[in-house]
Amino acid sequence: MRNKIVVGNWKMNNDKSQTKDLILSIKKSIQQKDNLRVILSPSFIHLESAISETLDTNIEICAQNIHQKEFGAYTGETSALMLKSIGVKTVIIGHSERREYFKENEQILSEKINTALKNGLEIIYCFGEQYKDRKNKNYHQIVLSQIKNVLFKLDPKDFENVILAYEPIWAIGTGETASADEAQEIHGFIRNVIKEKFGNEISEKTPIIYGGSIKPVNADKIFSKKDVDGGLVGGASLKADDFIKIINSL
Ligand code: PGA
Repeated sequence: MRNKIVVGNWKMNNDKSQTKDLILSIKKSIQQKDNLRVILSPSFIHLESAISETLDTNIEICAQNIHQKEFGAYTGETSALMLKSIGVKTVIIGHSERREYFKENEQILSEKINTALKNGLEIIYCFGEQYKDRKNKNYHQIVLSQIKNVLFKLDPKDFENVILAYEPIWAIGTGETASADEAQEIHGFIRNVIKEKFGNEISEKTPIIYGGSIKPVNADKIFSKKDVDGGLVGGASLKADDFIKIINSL
């Protein structure tokens, strides 16, 4: 049975005390369930304190990015080894904001994934189509190429440390969301792509989570679909009450 996973991606939000307060509120109200992973992703500078705040819980803390090199003269960057040294175990790679604003292409994303996996970090690989691709109905090709160009180079055993996050760009931070049926349709497609390349066992084990304007009102329906294993939540993860409701929908 696949784990259910909810990730709160806080992006560039929350100062030190806001980060602490949000973690405390989530900690207080969360009900632990078997096979449920709750992962919070604060900014880099709050990762270590977030790890300390959650030591006595099942809540996990993940990073929003890493640099593809292991060390060196890369001013302002953070390496896999640095993250590991403070106890981070998971990292988000390929978020559409990184692709768009920081020009991270598939070559860079492949390098980041290799570096993360080589250093024993689990990855959450994000991908998804733009609105025009959905409208023109060529989103399957886009999603296929985002998987093929990056994940097909991996070794099958790497998939023990891979979470896939399908995030249609048109739904991120827009209030628009894929319907539950649209989410299931593309998640089923993604699982099939993984199956054709890596076999049934890996495809059945790999979690595929959905991201894009998940809220308490739509989480239930989206999470009820058989190939949707949870969600990557941005805006709604900044409010403890909403985030807890979303977690409880799984
Ligand atoms: P959103 O963000 O929930 O605010 O749409 C999702 C994401 O960027 O991962």
